[in-house]
Amino acid sequence: MTQQSPIVPANLETIAKAAEIIRAGQLVALPTETVYGLGADATNPEAVAKIFTAKGRPSFNPLIVHVASLELAGTLAEVTPLAERLAANFWPGPLTLILPRDEQRRIPDITVAGLDTIAIRIPNHPIALELLIKAEVPIAAPSANRSGHVSATTAAHVADDFGASVSLILDAGPTVHGVESTVIDATGSVPVILRPGAITAEALTDVIGAQPETRSSHAASPTSPGQLESHYAPNCRVRLNATDVRPNEHYLAFGPAVPDGIEPLANLSPCGDLVEAATNLFAILRHIDQPGIDTVAIAPIPNTGIGVAINDRLRRAAAPRPVVNGGIQLPSG
Ligand code: TXA
Ligand code: MG
Repeated sequence: MTQQSPIVPANLETIAKAAEIIRAGQLVALPTETVYGLGADATNPEAVAKIFTAKGRPSFNPLIVHVASLELAGTLAEVTPLAERLAANFWPGPLTLILPRDEQRRIPDITVAGLDTIAIRIPNHPIALELLIKAEVPIAAPSANRSGHVSATTAAHVADDFGASVSLILDAGPTVHGVESTVIDATGSVPVILRPGAITAEALTDVIGAQPETRSSHAASPTSPGQLESHYAPNCRVRLNATDVRPNEHYLAFGPAVPDGIEPLANLSPCGDLVEAATNLFAILRHIDQPGIDTVAIAPIPNTGIGVAINDRLRRAAAPRPVVNGGIQLPSG
């Protein structure tokens, strides 16, 4: 007997089914404008525990809680004046705000890994928003990949990582941005970027009138617990900022200039467009992860706009994996 695929096209009927599954405490993979998420009722500790188990995610790494309105966000967190300003400009959208938790603690500790803060965002995707409205609960959703692996930008990527352990994957085609949301600490008066993402520092500067701070994390004591060094890790080795190709290496190009005589494995954006490169990034990282490919040399990517998020993900893809008890451990999610 063949296993039935959990992938279904997203429509009003399948969204209603997904909402029922969420309310029943099970997992649903959903599209967002950034990457696919692995969703559960954020208020149900048993349901949230299933996310950590399915992903193999360490329990110290908190989840993003997705809501359909700023009003609902205000019942789960203290919406600071800075957060109000950012939300007015970027929500719905690929910006996650870290805020102080509400006093009643409506969202259980497991969802936020016991922190006094909570990560919230309103996604800008019609299917995600419809699901949030129909489910009538906030949805905790990390990226729908196994912990430490490359994020999923198609329903097929989700199925590759989870198989039948997710009962339903709502398929709405490839995601638009291709990299995750920008995570901002908005607890104070100045925005601090904890994870660069689809909303660029330049766009934040335009709204705030000053450059946001960046708190770069360190593997030993990450400020944003998911920001561990090794992440987005394909099995092959990765060499960055490559302007030549060495023996036994394959080449991943960006833009029209390719080293002489080299046939690249793929090109992140043949015309050199960073937005296109971000959209293609995770699908290409999954594609290059084939048997027989030892090392991939990756062309330099300009570190402006969404290029900052691309370089952040590539740096993590290239980072050495921590070795624990002689085996390789892939942290975070
Ligand atoms: O685009 C996205 O953000 C996707 C879609 C599905 O919404 N989600 C996503 O979730 O990327 P995840 O779990 O893969 O990444 C969430 C990041 C992690 O680095 C986590 O540590 C951080 O947000 N985070 C969550 N809560 C936090 C908190 N209270 N303080 C600091 N960082 C937090
Ligand atoms: Mg992730």
